[in-house]
Order: sequence, then C-alpha cells, then structure tokens
Amino acid sequence: MTLPSSLGASVSLDGLSFQYGRAGLFPRRPAPRILHDIDLLVPAGRTVGLVGESGSGKSTIAKLMLGLLAPTQGRALLDGQPLAAMPARARARRIQMVFQDPYSSLNPRRTISEILTAPLRVHGVGDAASRAASVRRMMDAVGLVPAFAARYPRELSGGQRQRVAIARALMLEPRLLICDEPTSALDVSVQAQILNLLMELQRERGLGYLFISHNLAVVQHIADEIVVLQGGRVVERGPADQVYFAPAHPYTQQLIGATLAVPEPQEIAA
Ligand SMILES: Nc1ncnc2c1ncn2[C@@H]1O[C@H](COP(=O)(O)OP(=O)(O)O)[C@@H](O)[C@H]1O
Ligand SMILES: [Mg+2]
Repeated sequence: MTLPSSLGASVSLDGLSFQYGRAGLFPRRPAPRILHDIDLLVPAGRTVGLVGESGSGKSTIAKLMLGLLAPTQGRALLDGQPLAAMPARARARRIQMVFQDPYSSLNPRRTISEILTAPLRVHGVGDAASRAASVRRMMDAVGLVPAFAARYPRELSGGQRQRVAIARALMLEPRLLICDEPTSALDVSVQAQILNLLMELQRERGLGYLFISHNLAVVQHIADEIVVLQGGRVVERGPADQVYFAPAHPYTQQLIGATLAVPEPQEIAA
C-alpha cells in the first residue's frame, strides 16, 4: 500500500458522503444526501476529469476538495492531512481554483497587474520588485502580452480573462488546481486554446488537475483518468480513452451521445 505522502502533492476524497445543512426554506425537511461514498485521488502531474450532468454534484466535490465544505462522512485530505483542520492560508499555497465564469471572478475595479499581485501581497510573498517580476513571468507563461498589465478585465476577451484567472491561480505556485467548467463559458475555438494552455502549464510545472465539465469530449481531450458522476454517485471510472471510446455504463454512453453534436476541440485546434 502506497502512503499518500510518497506520491508527493495530492488531494483525495476517501469514502466521502455529503449533505448540505438543514437551514433554509424547509428546515424541518431532512436535507438530501448530495454525494455518496466518493473515492477520488488527484496527484500532482496528472489530470482527473470529473464529468456528469448539471446537479450531479461536481461543484460540491470541488468545494470539498478546497476545504470550503466539510464531509458529512469520510475524509477529504490534502497531502495526507485533513483539509478541514488545515489553516486556509496553508491550503491556498497548495491548491487553487479556476472558475467557469471569467467575467464575474475577476474584480472589475482592479487592473490585471493588481489582480495578479494580490495573492502575493496577501500571503506576504516577496517585495514590490520581485512581485512585479513574478507578474511579468506569469503573464508570459499564460500568453498575455505585457501591455495587458495596465488594463481592466472589461477590456479583455473571455479567453484572455480566463488566462488571467489561470495566472492568478498559479501566482502562489500551488501543485494542484481545481478547474470547475473553466471553458464552458467560452467559444469552442477559444476552449481549445485554454485546454492546450492548461496542458502546457501542467507539463512545465507538474501540476495536478481536477478538471470538471459536463462535456465528456472536452474532458477526454485533457484527462488521464475520467470519473463519471450521476446523482452524486460514481457510476464509471477508468483511463480516459477507455471511458470515452468503450464506455461501460449507459449513463456514460448517454453523456457521449450528448457531445456528438459539437465538434471535438482537437479538430478546432488543428
Ligand atoms: N448551497 C447549497 N445548499 C443546498 N443544496 C445545494 C447547494 N449547492 C448545491 N446544492 C444542490 O446539490 C446538488 C449538486 O449541485 P452541484 O454540486 O452544484 O452540481 P453540479 O456542479 O454537478 O451542477 C444539486 O441538487 C444542488 O441543487
Ligand atoms: Mg457545477
């Protein structure tokens, strides 16, 4: 049995079940269980694709892996330690998130340079000169020309904003990134560029990704392993090509059927 620590950085869910609290409109009604007995491991250097239709529990898994929610049963571990017990700052240095909507996730009143400097400032990393140098390097790494530093999010396209969101997530040099539908709000041709950027950054930095999407074709493009979620249960998992080209579960086959109407990202990228 391999200990998690010997794998390097990793985030894992271990027999995890979850239900949201009872507060809300119908406090006397028992809260439904959202996730059932989930096992999931995302090691550095690998991409796990999490796919399922809207409401299947994908974003809830993201929040559990970030330590924003605590499991009802089972464990959520970062580098082998319970996430819930870890200080928020320590978590933020190791695991970061890219959201679906690059329009609402960037502060409209801050320039790109200010947005990218903020994580370094908050965590007290470096001085003004070294922070400016880090911002320049990171903008280059995500394919943003230096002139964008002084611009505001509204002056950028959706794809450029998502590059900013990825750069911001990487400023503290985490080993793990949770990407929750990061390309779903983008045009298909821009989706392919962002997927290719994520893969390039992974090769350069050895990052581990949990890549969440409702679109199995997008997940197949980027993932090593695919986990299929239906109604909060894992119904199929395996190597990406196997799940995509030889799906065993009827639900996976149905998800693939739903993607056949749109072109594959690699066809667009060619
Ligand atoms: N804050 C919340 N309180 C109660 N129920 C929630 C909350 N957030 C999500 N849910 C419910 O949890 C289920 C899974 O939601 P979510 O994780 O957002 O799924 P997905 O990301 O796959 O669309 C849905 O039934 C949703 O209505
Ligand atoms: Mg979601």
